[in-house]
Amino acid sequence: MKLSKSLLCSFFFKVCVNAITVENNFIPEGASITLPPSSSLFPRILGWQKRPQKDNWGNKLECDRQKISIRSSKNDKDDISDDFLWALKTANHGGLVELERGKKYVIGKKLDLTFLNDIYVKIDGELKFTNDIKYWQANNFYYDFQKSITFWVWGGKNIKIYGKGILNGNGQAWWDGFSGAEILDPNNKFYRPILFLTDNATNVEVTGLHLKDSPCWTTFFVRTKNVAFNDVYIDAISTNASTLPKNTDGFDSLNVDGLTVTNTRVNVGDDCFSPKPNTTNIFVRNLWCNGTHGVSMGSIGQYPGVLDYISNAWIENVTLLNGENGARLKAWAGPNVGYGYINNITYKDLHIENTDNPIVLDQCYFNINETTCAAYPSKVNITNVNFLNIYGTSSGKKGKVVADLTCSPGATCSGIHLENINITSPAGSPPQIVCDNIQGDIGVECIPASGADS
Ligand SMILES: *[C@@H]1O[C@H](CO)[C@@H](O)[C@H](O)[C@H]1NC(C)=O
Ligand SMILES: *[C@@H]1O[C@H](CO)[C@@H](O)[C@H](O)[C@H]1NC(C)=O
Ligand SMILES: *[C@@H]1O[C@H](CO)[C@@H](O)[C@H](O)[C@H]1NC(C)=O
Ligand SMILES: *[C@@H]1O[C@H](CO)[C@@H](O)[C@H](O)[C@H]1NC(C)=O
Ligand SMILES: *[C@@H]1O[C@H](CO)[C@@H](O)[C@H](O)[C@H]1NC(C)=O
Ligand SMILES: *[C@@H]1O[C@H](CO)[C@@H](O)[C@H](O)[C@H]1NC(C)=O
Ligand SMILES: *[C@@H]1O[C@H](CO)[C@@H](O)[C@H](O)[C@H]1NC(C)=O
Ligand SMILES: *[C@@H]1O[C@H](CO)[C@@H](O)[C@H](O)[C@H]1NC(C)=O
Ligand SMILES: *[C@@H]1O[C@H](CO)[C@@H](O)[C@H](O)[C@H]1NC(C)=O
Repeated sequence: MKLSKSLLCSFFFKVCVNAITVENNFIPEGASITLPPSSSLFPRILGWQKRPQKDNWGNKLECDRQKISIRSSKNDKDDISDDFLWALKTANHGGLVELERGKKYVIGKKLDLTFLNDIYVKIDGELKFTNDIKYWQANNFYYDFQKSITFWVWGGKNIKIYGKGILNGNGQAWWDGFSGAEILDPNNKFYRPILFLTDNATNVEVTGLHLKDSPCWTTFFVRTKNVAFNDVYIDAISTNASTLPKNTDGFDSLNVDGLTVTNTRVNVGDDCFSPKPNTTNIFVRNLWCNGTHGVSMGSIGQYPGVLDYISNAWIENVTLLNGENGARLKAWAGPNVGYGYINNITYKDLHIENTDNPIVLDQCYFNINETTCAAYPSKVNITNVNFLNIYGTSSGKKGKVVADLTCSPGATCSGIHLENINITSPAGSPPQIVCDNIQGDIGVECIPASGADS
């Protein structure tokens, strides 16, 4: 390990003066540690003792944190994952890791980041994953739920990740390789990594970043409490016309309490926002989705004998353009599925354009025909769902039908309320709202599916 003398000196000087302990004496080449100005001697000499301000979690503000930098990558194969891991360990418990603007940092090894406790990670540069499919398919973190894998796992508590930088999943090779396959096919073995995943985490905040070209889902939160994304841009864009990005969902969750997404734009070809089993206390405001499968509650009820639920969601001011779905509730049906409920969901102020199913309650997920769905109906109850002030246009793909609320005969759907709905169809007017097997009055005129011209 080559280490310049001056770096070494200044480092130890700083350490001595401020009596900071660094767990490991190994310092990677090109790394540096900068102390916060507030820890300098001046305030003390001048007798100026400002009461330190704290962040939302009662921890130090950015300006009071020790800052750790690492070298950047020389090219797309120059793996800095060891340096990044070192930086996180060194900055843990009150420090900050900084990835600088205009620089690229390549991750080529799987990373277990579940040890975190009070850390800021400022990403102004680009963190890019290698696209070594062979390596990642042999080295990853695996989750049984929909056979998910990921490059890295973030866990612990009080984790703030922010900046104007990019998390780049380098997905093209993965989409090309996956071409023609289906993620929910039980025989699929071509697993693709999720770009950002938390597990066993409490208090995670992600602000300002661009999450780009994830091989599979863009984010997945597991066993997590309080995760908030703000001012984030997510996209997945293929340069190969024959292999579009697949399953690059914006947001997914499992066993999560407290999921917030605000001021965010998503440009992917699958779900924009779709909490999955056991997600509670969901808050979404100012979300923009283009070309997506919509803002979906679920799918839930997938696994035989397993109870799933989603409850307490507030979804407000969402723009949904050019998609398959707008506001959707989805539950599995079939001979080998689970059961559960979706309760207390509000969709308010949605602007939907050119979308196949602007409002849809689908209890025949996934890939089953009407006969099978009727023989093995969904056992997921859907209760207390509000659709308020929703306007725009459908694509016309479902004829005049702009809202389809078809409840499974095996389930209870009640407390479904629509108000101020103004969605038109290019296929003709008046637009139709389908309701089947919904208990009670839904607040607007509706017709059975058998009477719809879709
Ligand atoms: C596009 O993807 C297909 C399917 O994997 C592949 O055969 C083809 O070579 C790719 N085209 C380019 C230009 O990479
Ligand atoms: C999360 O916590 C559970 C239960 O304590 C444990 O079994 C699991 O290994 C943890 N997962 C990670 C990724 O740390
Ligand atoms: C609604 O969200 C859009 C972004 O999609 C934003 O531009 C607009 O200001 C938001 N409206 C309100 C009232 O916050
Ligand atoms: C929206 O998505 C479509 C493809 O689905 C794309 O052609 C268009 O450029 C996107 N619009 C914006 C503003 O990103
Ligand atoms: C959801 O929670 C229930 C009750 O705690 C549990 O039995 C079930 O396994 C969970 N579902 C999933 C998919 O983890
Ligand atoms: C319904 O969900 C909202 C959040 O959207 C929450 O404030 C409210 O307390 C929930 N109602 C019940 C009865 O739990
Ligand atoms: C669904 O509703 C039915 C009838 O109200 C009830 O018997 C059943 O327990 C509910 N299922 C769940 C998972 O809540
Ligand atoms: C529906 O799907 C089942 C199971 O895949 C299949 O056996 C059946 O033939 C299908 N029925 C129709 C009408 O397509
Ligand atoms: C519904 O939307 C159309 C087209 O945007 C508009 O012309 C019409 O006035 C709206 N109707 C109501 C009742 O708001």
